[in-house]
Amino acid sequence: MTSHVTIHPKILYYGTPVVLLCTENQDGTTNISPISSSWALGNYVILGLGLGSQGLENLRERPECVLNLPNASLWQQVEALAPLTGRNPMPAYKKELGFRYEPDKFTAAKLTQVPSETVRPGRIGECPLQLEAIVRSIRIPEYAQMFAIVETEVTRVHADKQIVRGEHHINPAAWNPLLYNFRHYYGLGSELGKTYRSET
Ligand SMILES: Cc1cc2nc3c(=O)[nH]c(=O)nc-3n(C[C@H](O)[C@H](O)[C@H](O)COP(=O)(O)O)c2cc1C
Repeated sequence: MTSHVTIHPKILYYGTPVVLLCTENQDGTTNISPISSSWALGNYVILGLGLGSQGLENLRERPECVLNLPNASLWQQVEALAPLTGRNPMPAYKKELGFRYEPDKFTAAKLTQVPSETVRPGRIGECPLQLEAIVRSIRIPEYAQMFAIVETEVTRVHADKQIVRGEHHINPAAWNPLLYNFRHYYGLGSELGKTYRSET
């Protein structure tokens, strides 16, 4: 007995954390690209980036970035970035989607730039977790040439003291990532339990 039906959703954003990807523009300023396609394996984070974004162009030319993780309370500032691109001129499809060119996304979203320690793009001070990273590989799959799979290696982790427990652990009760759930923003509910490997 099943209660499922076949559907054809336009997107499959099934609830992943928002990452504010900082990359370096040609003129040395820092661009911010909101993304939600990312996953971590050990010290590596894999990103999915659409072709045509300034973030991807920057990573191809200058392969360093900062993966800033906003708290759920920052959702409106993330949404202020949503219709902006650092790409000028922008691809026709972005124009049709109502994007506008914005060279200074920090000011546009009222975010504070902080210098990084191991990479050139700046960090976002308001984000409780900031991962500096270098790009190890950029691959455009031959079966779908509209996005790139970007493999990064984290070189430094900055964590707000308020979400740190002990010396090197994140306190999951204090960290409330912003989730992108089928184009809606969510925070976390209360804890359900933990995995047997948890050290906290
Ligand atoms: C919450 C959110 C999640 C997004 N996730 C992605 C994503 O995972 N990959 C992607 O390429 N674009 C994603 N986008 C769209 C990019 O933000 C958009 O392409 C933007 O133009 C990137 O900025 P840039 O052109 O200055 O790099 C997302 C947008 C929002 C608001």
